[in-house]
Amino acid sequence: GLQIDVFPTREEASAAAADEVEALLRKKDSVNLGLATGSTPLPFYRELVRRHREEGLSFAQMEGFNLDEYEGLPPEHPESYDSFMQQQLYAHIDARESHLLPGIYQNAEEACRAYEEKIVEKGGLDWQLLGIGGNGHIGFNEPGSPVDSRTRRIELDERTRRDAVKQFGTLEKVPLAALTMGIGTILEAKRIVLMAWGAGKAGILQKALQGPVTAEVPASFLQTHGNVRILIDEEASQG
Ligand code: GLP
Repeated sequence: GLQIDVFPTREEASAAAADEVEALLRKKDSVNLGLATGSTPLPFYRELVRRHREEGLSFAQMEGFNLDEYEGLPPEHPESYDSFMQQQLYAHIDARESHLLPGIYQNAEEACRAYEEKIVEKGGLDWQLLGIGGNGHIGFNEPGSPVDSRTRRIELDERTRRDAVKQFGTLEKVPLAALTMGIGTILEAKRIVLMAWGAGKAGILQKALQGPVTAEVPASFLQTHGNVRILIDEEASQG
C-alpha cells in the first residue's frame, strides 16, 4: 500500500522530502531527480536552497529531469517550466545538469524519444517528485492517460487550462498542449514522492489514493508502484 504521512504544515512535509534527497546526495555519486513544477513544490525547493546556502549541502552529483513543459513557450518565457526551475532551484544551487522537455520543437515524437533515451542513458530516475492536478493528473497526464503511456505530446484539459489562468493572466494565453513524461515513464522511478497541500486537493487525493485504479484518475496508478510516499498537510488529509 501507499505510505501516507500527514504533517501540520507544508514546510514540515517539504523538509521530510528534502531529507530524502539529502540522504541520496550523501550516499550516491550520481543522483537523478525527477522534478515537478506548480505551487506545490515551492517550499521544497526553498528548503533545498536553504540547505545548500546555510548547511553547505552539495548538489554536485545531482541531475534533474522535469516532468513536463508547455508547448510553444521558449525557455526564457516567464511561465515556461524552464524559467520556473531556474528561478526556484537551479540559479541557487550547484547541480550538475538540468534536463527539461522543450517547449519549442520540430518533431514532438523525436523530442520525447530523445528525452526518454537520456533518462535511460543516465541510469534512470532515483527519486521522482509529483504534485497532483485538480483532475488527478500527474505531470500533464490528463484523465484517460494509460498506465503504460510514455513521454509524449498531450492536449491540456479545459480544467487544467482554467487552473493555469492564475499564472498566465487570461485563458487565451494558456498553452493548448504540452510535452509530458508518461505514466509508464513515471512509474519506472525507483521511488516516488507526491505532495499536496490545502483543502482544495482533499477530494481528488481521496479518489487517487483510496479509489479504484483507473485512467480516469491518473494519480491512482501510483497505488500499483510499491515505493511511493504521500506527503500532505492536515487540510489535504480531510477528504
Ligand atoms: C500543473 C503541473 C503539475 C502540477 C499541477 C498542480 O498541471 N504540470 O505537475 O502538479 O499543475 O499545480 P499546483 O501545485 O500549483 O496545485
